[in-house]
Amino acid sequence: MKEKEKFSRRGFLKTAAVMGATLTVSPALDKVQAVTHTVSNNKNILTDSARAAAITAHRTLGTGKAAFDVSALGFGVMGMTYNRSYHPDKKQCIRLLHEAMERGVTLFDTAIVYGPLNNELLAGEAFGEFHGRVNVTTKFGHEVINGKATGRQDSRPATIRRYCEESLKRLRTDVIPMFYQHRFDPNTPVEDVAGTIQDLIKEGKVLHWGMCEVSADTIRKAHAVCPLTAIQSEYHLMHREVERNGVLDVCRELGIGFVPYSPMNRGFLGGDLNEYTEFDPNNDNRTTLPRFTPEAMRANYRIVSVLQRYGRERGMTAAQLALGWLLQKAPWIVPIPGTTKLSHLEENLRTLEFALTAEEWKQLEDAVAAIPVTGDRYNAEQQKQVGF
Ligand SMILES: NC(=O)c1ccc[n+]([C@@H]2O[C@H](COP(=O)([O-])OP(=O)(O)OC[C@H]3O[C@@H](n4cnc5c(N)ncnc54)[C@H](OP(=O)(O)O)[C@@H]3O)[C@@H](O)[C@H]2O)c1
Repeated sequence: MKEKEKFSRRGFLKTAAVMGATLTVSPALDKVQAVTHTVSNNKNILTDSARAAAITAHRTLGTGKAAFDVSALGFGVMGMTYNRSYHPDKKQCIRLLHEAMERGVTLFDTAIVYGPLNNELLAGEAFGEFHGRVNVTTKFGHEVINGKATGRQDSRPATIRRYCEESLKRLRTDVIPMFYQHRFDPNTPVEDVAGTIQDLIKEGKVLHWGMCEVSADTIRKAHAVCPLTAIQSEYHLMHREVERNGVLDVCRELGIGFVPYSPMNRGFLGGDLNEYTEFDPNNDNRTTLPRFTPEAMRANYRIVSVLQRYGRERGMTAAQLALGWLLQKAPWIVPIPGTTKLSHLEENLRTLEFALTAEEWKQLEDAVAAIPVTGDRYNAEQQKQVGF
């Protein structure tokens, strides 16, 4: 089957057309270039979509029985309680999550270990009555005992089952739309993990599954037992490992979707962070990442400057270029930026209103690639948990 057929291009075009949007897809280049809303040209009246930033484009993660229709941009819930320093209170977070839903976002991402537990609880409270309209995906694997992460991995079949039951309760739902293995468990064969998920799918407790930060070989083994819907790994303009390690290639070959996490490099590519930014030492993993020392941020700000300069000529922000660059890489890629602000949500959703040519994206990519990135993305301990 041809790739363009596999990824439901027809559905994507239909959605865009229905909502008065145009979409340019060049099959030969496998590029989704943009969605442009048409504003009514009589009486200067703005259409609803022009008044409020909304997302109408959808994408399909995975193929066949594993296919999962979602908005072209998702929403990462993690930073609303965990690892992104200071955040608004629960009421405000829920209001923002509802704004995202009203504006067409259907994919929300959380995990058991975020908090731990309080991020799932937040998503459950926000969306408990909206399941079916939105999908809250979550992740198992990091061991959590009495609400505390131990730092170990536990993906034994019995543990996956227990985590599944507990997540269902916290998310206030009967079925998890997509359950990811958060990190590889060296003590549990991947076939056992895939087999357990296969059983949970048969039992109707899980709809789809995915894995995070695994190698192309592991993806093949897992997919052979139970077809994967998506791989979720770090991918953005400052970290392009999945282009080199075979992960994107194997996704393309097997018809598996890809969900880039930290699509703005944990906010850095949005331009609001710099060497003077103070992170909350009790709630921000960026304090442990070599790429976020003041020295590294000072050096890497050259990359943000490139985005800002490039955006200035096109009426785009650095964040929109970072997200747009990922979206144009393939129509089966769905980034999940996180935010605590309505203004940022709107800005991020409006990314899909811009149309850049393949040459323009390449020019931007080359300009960024010419600047060496200072600092590793993870410290040695965190690096040990990825790439199996
Ligand atoms: N699978 C995994 O191992 C894994 C690991 C990490 C993350 N994730 C997932 O990926 C999601 C996103 O990751 P992330 O939060 O690390 O990174 P991100 O989406 O790259 O960055 C989030 C940060 O960017 C800022 N931001 C958002 N929009 C902006 C804009 N338009 N301009 C400037 N700044 C902007 C946010 O701050 P404001 O609140 O001020 O907007 C927030 O602190 C998480 O929520 C989580 O679901 C998965």
